[in-house]
Amino acid sequence: MQNKITAAITGVGGYVPEYRLTNKELETMVETNDEWIVSRTGIKERRILKEKGAGTSFMTIRAAKSLLESTKIDPKTIDLLIVATATPDVMAASTAVYTASEIGATNAFAFDMDAACSSFLYGMSIAARYIESGHYKRVVLIGADKCSSMMDYEDRATCIIFGDGAGAVLFEPSTEGLGVQDEYLRSDGTGREFLQAKLGSSYPPTVDSIANRTHFVQQDGKTVFKTAVSMMALSVDTILKRNNLDVDAVQWLAAHQANKRIIDMTAQRIGIPAEKALVNIEKYGNTTSATLPLLLWDFENQFKKGDKIIFVTFGGGFTWGSIYLTWAY
Ligand code: UT7
Repeated sequence: MQNKITAAITGVGGYVPEYRLTNKELETMVETNDEWIVSRTGIKERRILKEKGAGTSFMTIRAAKSLLESTKIDPKTIDLLIVATATPDVMAASTAVYTASEIGATNAFAFDMDAACSSFLYGMSIAARYIESGHYKRVVLIGADKCSSMMDYEDRATCIIFGDGAGAVLFEPSTEGLGVQDEYLRSDGTGREFLQAKLGSSYPPTVDSIANRTHFVQQDGKTVFKTAVSMMALSVDTILKRNNLDVDAVQWLAAHQANKRIIDMTAQRIGIPAEKALVNIEKYGNTTSATLPLLLWDFENQFKKGDKIIFVTFGGGFTWGSIYLTWAY
């Protein structure tokens, strides 16, 4: 009898822009200071895509090429390419389709998907289902956001947090049972008023919207913070219980990098020691859809085959959840 197909991550790539926006530079832009930002968020700098006219695809293409380089796969063998993003290049024409063409994935179909900061996590669920179905053998999932494109650099409540970046992973079938094991995904639309950018079909850009700066991201940080800790802890707890996993059996917690205090409080609530929580927020800030793959990119050389990794996110919408995955190489 053929083994059940599971969806394993078999390679990682990434790209972050060169430009580092430091806390010191932010001090010259808004009423803030390095001490406040580091102690309240853990962020020291973030990368900003400065190239003129460059959108999210500038980073997805580079992240995908880095993935092709590390995995040595022929782009023509990619069946599906998904870009998880809240900041597509343009409305209506998919960033994923353009990315696929630019990297030579000529036999792939491609699409974008958006669940704000949970985009990559939801994307993992989609990628896993396509692989498990047996229809597709190679799915590339890229999490990318040019957050600077929706930031108000006069609003200290948001602009100190977000940065730009992209991370890419390859999903392939495993017959050893490695890869995605279980998931718990949820959403609640009553939360959207607490974190959103009023730019879209309900809010087409107008002279007033630009003048009032309402097209930029706005958030009620306190509400988002509290809800994030509760829902992330609940999600991980649900996944651990459902899979009879003790925290000691888990090697890594890969949590969305929104605020170091959110990560610490979530880990503490579920009893996972701080050293198991992957953290790179100090370097990149909150890159929305890119936080999880950038964690994998940065920490890949510490993972061992069979390591149990618990992913967890919370984001605008609200969207949240957790995925349990075993590392495949
Ligand atoms: O990816 C998912 C989306 N986002 C999140 O998960 C973000 C969740 N929220 C947060 O991370 C935090 O709420 C923030 C980092 C946004 C804010 O931190 P906080 O500890 O909740 O600060 P606060 O808004 O309660 O403000 C505390 C104080 C206030 O001063 P007073 O009223 O106590 O005198 C603020 O005016 O800090 C002040 N403040 C600042 N001071 C220096 C707020 N922002 C800043 C700043 N620099 N950038």
